[in-house]
Amino acid sequence: MFPFKNNINLIRDSNRNLYLQLCDQVIGYIKSGKLPPSTKLPGSRKLAEDLCIHRKTVIAAYEELISQGWIETIPARGTFVTGSLPIINPEYFDTSNSQISSKEKSGFPFLTRLHLQRNSSSTAQSKILRIDDGSPDHRLAPIEEIAKIYRNITKKSHHDDLLTYGSTHGNLALRKSLVSYLNQTRGLHITVDNIMITRGSQMGIYLASKLLLSPKSKIVVGTTNYMTADNTFKEAGGQIEQIPVDNQGLDISALEKLCLTKKITAVYVTSHHHHPTTVTLSAKRRMNLLRLAQQYNFAIIEDDYDYDFHYSNAPILPLASNDKRGNVIYIGGFTKIIAPSIRIGYLIAPKDFIDEAASLRRIIDRQGDTLLEQTLAQMINTGDVLRHCNKVLKIYKNRRDLFCSLLKSKLNEYFDFEIPKGGMAVWVKLHKAYTWEEIHAEAEKFDIELNSDWRRYDNDNSGHNGIRMGFASLNEEEIYNLIDILTIIFNTIQKNRKPIL
Ligand SMILES: Cc1ncc(COP(=O)(O)O)c(C=O)c1O
Repeated sequence: MFPFKNNINLIRDSNRNLYLQLCDQVIGYIKSGKLPPSTKLPGSRKLAEDLCIHRKTVIAAYEELISQGWIETIPARGTFVTGSLPIINPEYFDTSNSQISSKEKSGFPFLTRLHLQRNSSSTAQSKILRIDDGSPDHRLAPIEEIAKIYRNITKKSHHDDLLTYGSTHGNLALRKSLVSYLNQTRGLHITVDNIMITRGSQMGIYLASKLLLSPKSKIVVGTTNYMTADNTFKEAGGQIEQIPVDNQGLDISALEKLCLTKKITAVYVTSHHHHPTTVTLSAKRRMNLLRLAQQYNFAIIEDDYDYDFHYSNAPILPLASNDKRGNVIYIGGFTKIIAPSIRIGYLIAPKDFIDEAASLRRIIDRQGDTLLEQTLAQMINTGDVLRHCNKVLKIYKNRRDLFCSLLKSKLNEYFDFEIPKGGMAVWVKLHKAYTWEEIHAEAEKFDIELNSDWRRYDNDNSGHNGIRMGFASLNEEEIYNLIDILTIIFNTIQKNRKPIL
């Protein structure tokens, strides 16, 4: 008889009911073959006694297992593991404590996508400080307000049509709120037909590239560029064409030359602050880019991921605000304004493109999170989103100023950087005498995570030696702390340098 007493471990203060724990474990033993088909199970009284639990708990577990088809009762004979269960790789019962192990290898072939694999520089989970790519400080997110509104709209009287299947284009209330919010803040001229809600900007980039690119079609990006966008374009089959980026953003005259020799399908641009270098695309280049798009009939994917963060002057309006002929696909979202886990973004384009994007989205994600979308619509209408934006803008500006002044005063001899006019990160170029590799190795000793994948900025091996250092997610104390540690790291590297003979 299977030794239930020694092999069923029930935890009394667990969130899971005892009878369900018992079910889980019996199912586990059946699946592993340790309780093969037709094995007789002990009576409920005996098992309850062995496990020191109430008999009703065993009866409830047996009823559940019977209803799921794992066991069966044969009148006058007792309870048995169902006889007709298929036997899959039976394992023999081992009286030593069995270990739970995660599966490493699939038992079937599948496609691997090398271009999507990232060089992760660190596997450690709990670093004391992280230099990120330019993320918001999620500790500032208005989570109480979000929870309050969310709770309110889930009250019975409101929620009826929010819990059912809804529009793949997104919650209508949010689309309407966004139309007036974006028309006001970004000078757009759109209606609800031009907008679809996505799960963050990334879904917008993905949908746009899937609709635009077919194998061998050419998409132009800057050198260097946001690596995830590059990967998305490659995944869609597109061929990446690179043009230089200088202190005015993408080099549009290089694009013009390219248009003379190749058919260009799309141009990807982070116009407000180029990712990663943070420069703003100049007004003249914006006009020229729009002119070329009309002349050569290509699409502009304008990823305006950090439009709301500008510290010195008013932001330059996006290309989309000047798009007379329907060439611009405009992408943005709330993950940077509120928090990365609030996965709400938007895709803006002519109606025919939006409808097609919605059809494509349907096959992977039937619709967004309607309750959260409705919550956000209310927050936009009451002005909460704008108020939050203004609040964090002041905080991030102070953090940028502190971060840059400390970087300048303490680490100037190692880096070149410009103070960014906006955004959440500084583009820091390390002097060529040093490598991020050695800094990373030292940083590990101090439990500092140097950007989750610091090699990605040199995706094309251009050797610029730069990374983005996010300042927005660090408070004042953390910034001081980080710069102190970086100073120690550089002093150590300097000290360990072999003198040049
Ligand atoms: C340039 C750029 N575009 C798009 C995204 C994706 O943003 P989301 O989290 O809204 O999908 C990011 C995220 O960091 C980004 O840096």
